[in-house]
Amino acid sequence: MYHKPVLLEMSIEGLAIKSDGIYVDVTYGGGGHSREILKKLSNKGKLIVFDHDFDAISNKLNDDRMTFISSNFKYLNRFLRLNNIDSVDGILADFGVSSHQFDSKDRGFSTRFDGPLDMRMDKSQDLSAADIINNYLIEDLFKLFKNYGELRNSKQLAEVIGVHRSIAPILSTGTLKNIVQKILPQKYLNKTLAQVFQALRIEVNKELDAIKDFLRQTPISLSPGGRLVCISYHSLEDRLVKRFIRDGKFEGEVKKDFYGNKKLPLKKVGGLQTPSEEEIINNIRSRSAKLRVAERVIIN
Ligand SMILES: C[S@@+](CC[C@H](N)C(=O)[O-])C[C@H]1O[C@@H](n2cnc3c(N)ncnc32)[C@H](O)[C@@H]1O
Repeated sequence: MYHKPVLLEMSIEGLAIKSDGIYVDVTYGGGGHSREILKKLSNKGKLIVFDHDFDAISNKLNDDRMTFISSNFKYLNRFLRLNNIDSVDGILADFGVSSHQFDSKDRGFSTRFDGPLDMRMDKSQDLSAADIINNYLIEDLFKLFKNYGELRNSKQLAEVIGVHRSIAPILSTGTLKNIVQKILPQKYLNKTLAQVFQALRIEVNKELDAIKDFLRQTPISLSPGGRLVCISYHSLEDRLVKRFIRDGKFEGEVKKDFYGNKKLPLKKVGGLQTPSEEEIINNIRSRSAKLRVAERVIIN
């Protein structure tokens, strides 16, 4: 199976689908969420989907109501305009990596296999994990492990990589694992190794920048009352979603009206939602999922 959709029911409920509406799934993957959206749409409804991994296209559903855009979702508005769409009724984002990507040995995403240090979701881009590991300054490797992996011994990690790469280039996930696992806490080896890989993956795919660019564009694309549904898998992603819904931006002062009320483009709908115990038992990859829903409001 390409990917088992996470928080499927809650996310579709969050979109509050109107049968004739226009919806966007910016992370198509195996099409699990898209399939469910299509079930709720009439013949007049439309679904636009994005995925920048070519493998996702091979899984494309054959449905006249769906348009596939093989691009990064950071170009959301550009591609909607190109498809003559002014506004949409709902946008769904299910961030991160699909099971298909994790389970493909040759993609380098998983700590379970020995594969090339690649980790590119979009194979047409140049930068790979091997480039980062072998060419980044030690100082930049340190920052990356600290900021994106939230690893305690980031400095030591960067240094040990520096020592090894001066002897021979580090080209496989197996070699990287052997190098770093000696200095990771043995008790939490799997968890911390996953954090090292996560940090690299975020940097290779510039994941947080893409999420920020995407979120900034959502109020422009959504029609009033339109819904934004985001599923995140780690705190760095969820923090961005939470902050954007709360403040309409990621940094700086929030705009206020004459009376001191925040001028916000989105309004939170309900609270944070997480998978049930049953879903986690049936799909272990759902365990860290966090879902947030917001609605487009009109700012005067
Ligand atoms: C967790 S999977 C989505 C799974 C999907 N909801 C399903 O049920 O099958 C995330 C997908 O989003 C894609 N993706 C991640 N970041 C992206 C980005 N910035 N632009 C476009 N696609 C992206 C990945 O290639 C992957 O296929």
